[in-house]
Amino acid sequence: MAKISSAKIRKIIDSRGNATVEVDIFVDGKYMGRAAAPAGASKGAFEVKDYPEEGIDFGIMQFRSVAIPKIVGSDPLDQKGFDKLLHEIDGSDDFAVMGGNIAIATSLAVAKAAAKSEGMELYRMMLKKGKAKMPYPVGNIIGGGKHAINGTTMQEFLSVAFGKTYSDSAFANTIVHKRTGELLKKRFSDYPIGLGDEKAWVAAMGDMEAVQTLSDAISYTSEKTGMAMGPAIDLAASSFYADGMYDYKGRKLTTPEQIEFISGIVEKFSVKILEDPLDENDFEGFAELTKRIGKKTIIVGDDLFVTNKKRLSQGIKMGAANGVLIKPNQIGTLSDMIETVELAKKHNYEMVISHRSGETEDSTIAHLAVGLGIGYIKTGTIGGERTAKHNELIRIEEMERA
Ligand code: PGA
Ligand code: ZN
Repeated sequence: MAKISSAKIRKIIDSRGNATVEVDIFVDGKYMGRAAAPAGASKGAFEVKDYPEEGIDFGIMQFRSVAIPKIVGSDPLDQKGFDKLLHEIDGSDDFAVMGGNIAIATSLAVAKAAAKSEGMELYRMMLKKGKAKMPYPVGNIIGGGKHAINGTTMQEFLSVAFGKTYSDSAFANTIVHKRTGELLKKRFSDYPIGLGDEKAWVAAMGDMEAVQTLSDAISYTSEKTGMAMGPAIDLAASSFYADGMYDYKGRKLTTPEQIEFISGIVEKFSVKILEDPLDENDFEGFAELTKRIGKKTIIVGDDLFVTNKKRLSQGIKMGAANGVLIKPNQIGTLSDMIETVELAKKHNYEMVISHRSGETEDSTIAHLAVGLGIGYIKTGTIGGERTAKHNELIRIEEMERA
């Protein structure tokens, strides 16, 4: 039997310049799997805790002294058993002791080391003999919310590309990004324009102008490439919801008004994917919106579901949403994430696997997308920590063609 022979943890720098963790797992002293955790800025209230209360350095120290001795000797090919061990070592129900970011980096590093020891790519090991299907990329083009200073109220205006190949689709989104930059340069000729945390454009404009600009850039690109494309929006609505109102920089909407407003935008711009249009506690509002426009668009719960099987199952019961965002570090282990994916599949919920606003060069989500047959991947359009995922998918596509 293959055995985990040693493990290492270190502090590395993420794309925002913050500290995050990276874990190396060694199998039989020679096969290494490495994974790093990302970081959210608009985190859901119901995510597992990313680090112990005492902070990242304490978490690292504790992992070295408490967890590593218990991990060594276990079977890397038994992912479920390993992830159960992580829960046992932690002892809480939200990784508050170990830190969910430390747990997820460890869990994914084990999966990668297991694949190495089997002489396989991770996505291939997960697929077994199944046929690989590439996801469609959802790329952030214009942004604001908690990802930028003085940007739009809604967090992300994105482009979805339905090309024949992943490579074609990912490149098409880069054209939308470039075209948007040109449009903004014309529109704001006397002002500087910048990029937010996910390398989406940030300019002094409102949400309606942003969606119009996005839509124009997508039409231009779709015509130029002959590819089917469409807009997506992640409102991250919990980040501007307070006291029962959605606050658009002073213009406040009640929940029924928000539902009306958002339905109008979805219809007018043929929005393909709509993420977190309402507050993370509002299952009823989500259900009403889904009844209203769920046939026209994919309504995705991110902060609503936090990749949590229990919350997704409540959503399924209530008819809240018809899609779920999958972020591994929201739930802390690969096995927990897979349980949520399986539940979504069973109920025909669309899935979008996602990066976080703070990222590293780690490209594991590219493998998870293909390995689990997830329909979409949201990972920015440009920027090294985003292109790391695209470029890995381009490699995977090539391997599958060969
Ligand atoms: P994050 O949010 O900043 O928490 O990563 C991204 C998202 O809302 O999808
Ligand atoms: Zn989101």
